Amino acid sequence: MTYIEWTTSLSVGSDEIDGQHATMLGIINTLFETVTHRDNTEELRRITANLMAYTQEHFITEEGLMRGCGFPGLAEHQQEHIHFMEKIRDFAMVLENEPSGAVLPLEMFHFLQTWLAEHIMRVDRQYAVFCNMLGGRE
Ligand SMILES: [Fe+2]
Ligand SMILES: [Fe+2]
Repeated sequence: MTYIEWTTSLSVGSDEIDGQHATMLGIINTLFETVTHRDNTEELRRITANLMAYTQEHFITEEGLMRGCGFPGLAEHQQEHIHFMEKIRDFAMVLENEPSGAVLPLEMFHFLQTWLAEHIMRVDRQYAVFCNMLGGRE
């Protein structure tokens, strides 16, 4: 299983947002670790709930920031956030309905792993550029 790490190439120029992204990647990595090495459904449920709660908090922070600088792509960006939350909720449902063990769709791991990095680099970067957060770094 490939793990993802936060690197400066994912920076959007805000310590607060960068820190939240790194934390989210960390939670997803813990999820992979638990699935591949420990096979503990209860723990997986707990980590997934944590990922949902933390992601919700991050999206609120980010949407507030975009609103604050009048980013015109806010509604579209929010749709991506909603889509992601739905996917995590689907994942949580699979865990709920799988009391005997971790029968977990691999594509969900793949989704979590790639969505976040891709979203940060492609979508979050748009508000970072618009809100002049990157300085000379874009
Ligand atoms: Fe983000
Ligand atoms: Fe975002």
